[in-house]
Amino acid sequence: MNNFKNLRGTVDLLPDQLIKWQNVEKIIIQQLFRSSVKEIRTPILEMTELFMRGIGEGTDVVSKEMYTFLDRGERSCTLRPEGTASVARALIQHGISTRPSQKLWYMGPMFRYERPQAGRQRQFHQLGVEFVGYESVSSDIEIITLAWDILQKLGIKELNLEINTLGDHIDRSNFQKAFLNWLEVNKNSLDLDSQRRIDKNPLRILDTKNVQTKKILKGAPRLFDFLSEKSLERYLIIKEKLKILKIPFIENFNLVRGLDYYTHTAFEITSGTLGSQATVCGGGRYDSLMSQMGGAETPAIGFAIGLERLIILCGSELEETRETDIYIVNKGRHAEILAMELSRKLRNFDLIAELDLSGASFSKQFKKANKLKSKSIVVIGDDEAVKNEFVIRLFNNDNSENKEETISIEDNINLEKWIKSNLILDKNL
Ligand code: HAM
Repeated sequence: MNNFKNLRGTVDLLPDQLIKWQNVEKIIIQQLFRSSVKEIRTPILEMTELFMRGIGEGTDVVSKEMYTFLDRGERSCTLRPEGTASVARALIQHGISTRPSQKLWYMGPMFRYERPQAGRQRQFHQLGVEFVGYESVSSDIEIITLAWDILQKLGIKELNLEINTLGDHIDRSNFQKAFLNWLEVNKNSLDLDSQRRIDKNPLRILDTKNVQTKKILKGAPRLFDFLSEKSLERYLIIKEKLKILKIPFIENFNLVRGLDYYTHTAFEITSGTLGSQATVCGGGRYDSLMSQMGGAETPAIGFAIGLERLIILCGSELEETRETDIYIVNKGRHAEILAMELSRKLRNFDLIAELDLSGASFSKQFKKANKLKSKSIVVIGDDEAVKNEFVIRLFNNDNSENKEETISIEDNINLEKWIKSNLILDKNL
């Protein structure tokens, strides 16, 4: 018999781990809701061409990391490596890319064939946010603030926000000419990986982790010096506004991001706690993506947070779940059906009600309720069931006699009274 295992770089998220994920997702979604950002869901599978055109053929993501295959109709399909290109496609396709402006979010699995290591998987999850149709500097600030505030809301400390500007296409092509000339002269001093990038994606060389190359790059031309007056002014205003909002940042002129669509603002949020895969959030402006993909000129900016890395950074208080409110112990043919009826009624009161389905002895069922740390317990035997009633009481409570009550299944008024005086309910469940 074959023992099946999950594929390398993919992970099973088990129920106990998912408590933290669900708590984190809930906080994120609430924060997005408060910021008037609406959800969008696009397919996980897209035409390969979308990412080649959207992300850029010279990028590592497209040239080395995509899960691409021919479907049964011989179409080249790709499991999405990121969400921005898909959102752009969807907006163009549905004719809503330019008007009205859209503030959108998505959450879900992405796929990149990378070498798995701590914080890096082949199937991973992102929360992405895209502001489409927004040009103002304020929208850059709002996007960075949103990313920052989500991380703050989750209680994550010691984060570093790094910002840079990539200018517009003209700034970049002017820089690229000068940089290529410099690379020609200095090629042999660079590491092999950087040498390979000269033809494919020279800008990415700036992002190298190779210590020797980093040193040599200090003598290279800087993109910053090729910015037009307009691009420079935009960048300076962003810095000024971040300072006013007291969002600490550092400038990193080598921050170029791994996807080709960026213009002007680029930013990343990192944490030293994450080790070598330190970036928890990356984003930036992409004013040309929509037009490159066949849509109208549409300014846009966004970011994505890697959820696996985020979960590592979040504290253990988010691993806690709400206890069971009521455990329903029941035994006997009549008792079972009454218990079932009661469990549905209790859930309509927004309670977490767990129905014991085992048919085991009362004592075994009590033990289970104890193990679950249920706040209260309902006991129904056939004697109670015949009378259409049940006993409800607080569990493990010294004064349980005072709190115990026998209630008829039809008596909603007394049931509600008992619940309100004995259980504190979390309406946000
Ligand atoms: P990205 O920088 O490629 O940007 O990815 C964003 C985040 O996803 C990274 O900072 C990291 O936390 C997480 N991530 C990426 N690859 C992996 C992996 N293999 N395993 C675990 N986590 C990973 C984008 O994807 C852009 N679409 C962001 C964006 C949105 N820019 C504008 N709008």
